[in-house]
Amino acid sequence: MGIYVLAITGASGSRYASLLANRIVTNGHKLKVVVSGSGREVIGEEESISLSGNIKLDRDPFLEWIDVTEASTEVELIDEKNVGASIASGSFQHNGMIVVPCSGGTLGRISNGISSNVIDRAALVCLKERRKIILVTRETPLGLIDIENMRKVTEAGALLMPASPGFYHKPETIDDLISFIVDRILDHLGIENQNSVRWVGKKD
Ligand SMILES: Cc1cc2nc3c(=O)[nH]c(=O)nc-3n(C[C@H](O)[C@H](O)[C@H](O)COP(=O)(O)O)c2cc1C
Repeated sequence: MGIYVLAITGASGSRYASLLANRIVTNGHKLKVVVSGSGREVIGEEESISLSGNIKLDRDPFLEWIDVTEASTEVELIDEKNVGASIASGSFQHNGMIVVPCSGGTLGRISNGISSNVIDRAALVCLKERRKIILVTRETPLGLIDIENMRKVTEAGALLMPASPGFYHKPETIDDLISFIVDRILDHLGIENQNSVRWVGKKD
């Protein structure tokens, strides 16, 4: 059983996070989750749940959103202001952190070493400890500042996976597109995923 850190920030695409959380927990792993204030705002716009920012009150709606009621004990919500949380320390061992969706704001703070909340701090800890960290950005078009920030975090050891689904698997629903990105994230985390759609190559 692994421990994964999931940070949900204020870019569009919160549904990527809910499906990823579901897949991680239903595969038997523990999950530590932080949602930024803007992340909550975007979730409120895009999804049918509303999170208050109080991690005790938010637990049940969050578990319902990620559809994992029976495995609830494996999910811990962490307050974004709690810079003393376990994930803020390099001595806390985990198997990887995913920031999905990752806003340009969070990308900018991480790439410039600015630790303004526990998400930034935990991400910077991953980089200094050489732990796996995946940033799933969503922005278009990209400005030079975003591009420079992407270069910097990549050179520092992060894996940048823009939320840019392919269409060669002939998606029919939005969920098919969401799954495409989540499947690729799970591959990089080394989490088994039987449902993954894979290109098997063209027959001659
Ligand atoms: C509805 C909504 C959608 C947004 N979509 C994006 C987006 O796709 N990408 C992005 O980088 N920022 C987006 N933003 C802006 C971020 O939320 C904003 O920059 C915020 O300060 C990021 O804060 P955080 O990094 O602490 O979550 C959006 C904001 C709102 C309210």
